[in-house]
Amino acid sequence: MKAMTIREYGDPDVLKLEELPLPDPAPGEVRVQVHAVSINPVDHKVRQTGFFNYTNFPVILGWDISGMIDALGEGVTEFQVGDEVYGMIRFPQEGRAYAEYVTAPVADLARKPSNLSHTEAAAMTLAALTAHQAFERMELQVGQTILIHAGAGGVGHFAVQLAKARGARVIATASNHNRDFVLGLGADEVLDYRAQPFEEQVSAVDAVLDTVGGETLSRSFAVIKPGGWLVSIAGQPSAHQAQERDVNVERILVYPSQAHLDILSGLAEAGQLKAHVSQTFDLEQVAQAHQAQQTQRTVGKIVLTVV
Ligand SMILES: NC(=O)c1ccc[n+]([C@@H]2O[C@H](COP(=O)([O-])OP(=O)(O)OC[C@H]3O[C@@H](n4cnc5c(N)ncnc54)[C@H](OP(=O)(O)O)[C@@H]3O)[C@@H](O)[C@H]2O)c1
Repeated sequence: MKAMTIREYGDPDVLKLEELPLPDPAPGEVRVQVHAVSINPVDHKVRQTGFFNYTNFPVILGWDISGMIDALGEGVTEFQVGDEVYGMIRFPQEGRAYAEYVTAPVADLARKPSNLSHTEAAAMTLAALTAHQAFERMELQVGQTILIHAGAGGVGHFAVQLAKARGARVIATASNHNRDFVLGLGADEVLDYRAQPFEEQVSAVDAVLDTVGGETLSRSFAVIKPGGWLVSIAGQPSAHQAQERDVNVERILVYPSQAHLDILSGLAEAGQLKAHVSQTFDLEQVAQAHQAQQTQRTVGKIVLTVV
């Protein structure tokens, strides 16, 4: 099978096309013929720095798949050959999804929503799971107000929709040129964070979802009510600021969950959740896809189409 591998960490040109043997599913796993793989910032971070320390070269990156099951490992009864599935596989272990075929634990997969293409379903995995898990952690409730940073991004565009689906009032930050896109996702208000600091435009929210980190994270404390929540996916909130402002904080790392994928599928099938795919590339063009993702200007998601 074709796979885009790396044999060293570094710039996008370390990604090389290789011909590798088909992987065999272990007990409890299936083999999936990959139709689409989505790209996340973690892909280029691992490629550049190797920060998850995978050492079994050739390493194959990629976690977010949608495709069709073509072989079953021992003991698998939940799925059959021919089923269309999607999921974030093995994260944060090596995903090995930049390939024509990949094996995956059954527990990391769910049935692909019938109304989504493989490209859309692949987009709706790591980023949407992250947003869902952040809201579970902060127990986002009907009627609460949440500020979502980077509402146009991969995580942010799902977060806006998922927060609305929970009945929250949603304020999101975005550059002015993405304002209409984010309003179209259902945001009640969009703040142009470049024109004016967001903390001068909003106050006393129940919760913040930080997808940016750094200063954006530390400045977010100022806009949260006492007793409110700050969940970050991009930095460690300060315990000192949390105590001083009486804010609950947590940095989360997304984890695979079939149950959570099933919730996302239900919302997608009900028309309450859509994946916005702004750019697609062929598997062999993954270096270009990484370069595009690294701009930090992605609107929605970037996806590799494999079949
Ligand atoms: N902990 C976890 O489990 C987890 C999971 C997923 C992602 N992450 C991390 O979360 C971050 C976001 O991921 P992503 O997939 O959403 O990234 P992304 O799609 O690349 O985000 C791009 C968006 O970021 C916006 N942006 C850039 N700088 C901004 C700023 N200072 N303030 C507000 N918006 C800004 C841009 O919006 P405009 O063009 O509108 O300005 C763009 O739409 C990354 O660092 C990623 O590694 C962590």
